[in-house]
Amino acid sequence: MNKAQIIGTGHYVPQNIVSNEDLAKIIETSDEWISSRTGIKERRITQGENTSDFATKAALLAMEDAKITPDEIEFIILATYTPDAFIPNTACIVQSNIGAVNATCFDLSAACTGFIYALDIATQFIKIGRAKCILIIGAETQSKHLNWEDRGTCVLFGDGAGAAVIKAGDQGDVLACYSGSDGAKSKNLTVDGVPVRNPFIENSPGKMYDLTNSTIKMDGKEIFKFAVGIMLQCAQELLKTAGLNMEDIKFLIPHQANYRIIESTARKLGVDMDKIFINIDKYGNTSAASVAIALDELAKSGRIAKGDKIMLVGFGGGLTYGGTIIEW
Ligand code: ACO
Repeated sequence: MNKAQIIGTGHYVPQNIVSNEDLAKIIETSDEWISSRTGIKERRITQGENTSDFATKAALLAMEDAKITPDEIEFIILATYTPDAFIPNTACIVQSNIGAVNATCFDLSAACTGFIYALDIATQFIKIGRAKCILIIGAETQSKHLNWEDRGTCVLFGDGAGAAVIKAGDQGDVLACYSGSDGAKSKNLTVDGVPVRNPFIENSPGKMYDLTNSTIKMDGKEIFKFAVGIMLQCAQELLKTAGLNMEDIKFLIPHQANYRIIESTARKLGVDMDKIFINIDKYGNTSAASVAIALDELAKSGRIAKGDKIMLVGFGGGLTYGGTIIEW
């Protein structure tokens, strides 16, 4: 069986920085409330670029880091719940932008767990010999799906993208993957799509449907409770599969949703906070891009070396959850 090696990473966030103080000018909130409840100080918000634009820029950086040419890419798996359009899928737009003419392209919808699901799928494709080189991307433009008058949600999220190139190799590997979903809890985090409508239904919604009300609705407390328990479960299952202990893990990259969720998970796992990679202060919750951006920042920080083991864990709307242990 092949080893699935991460040979390059990249990320891109829009230039526009929106601080907590900036938000306090448009809604009733404060830096003190947002920082103390979430750990977020600022986030990046697009001023025109869409999900495919972020994804393309992150992908090009990951390809440059991996030293591969576009024609080597056999699959592009793009995790997002904020695609440019229903058709074409955003992965196809990225394919065209980067010239990856040999790639099969699809989007994957698993909210914040999307990048972890994408890494799992890419890993299995590589290990069984279905492909030798796969580009995975987590990209979101959540700002277009926020109700900017709802202070309970609009302060939490940000825009951006992260990408990684996975290649069949003999150095480094993905040692364990774990995932699951709990659809019965789906109502705790929703973004509406288009309702059923046609001229053959009595009182059918209008001829044209307005998607501007398709905004994030969330029961923050329920998600919070779910998150801590499930990240702990993911970590324990991954360690069991890989035959490792938490002491063997050099860094843990959790989904960046809330500093308190991360801290609570670390406490339950008995892990020191200095082993945990955190960038939520700079970007907020970037959903499918969160773990991908963090992985790239960690890789570029010079703090990991060949052979180090890194654990990724995440959760998100769906509800979805999962994790991975990577040997660098
Ligand atoms: N500024 C000021 N006050 C606020 C704000 C705000 N931005 N938002 C809410 N409040 C107020 C509320 O109105 C409430 O006031 P009240 O007591 O007078 O009614 C008070 O603050 C407390 O609100 P809570 O919702 O109880 O605050 P809580 O401590 O639970 O924190 C939070 C809310 C930060 C959302 C937390 O529950 C959380 O992080 N949950 C997890 C969310 C999450 O991880 N989502 C990720 C899913 S990602 C995905 O899949 C896309």
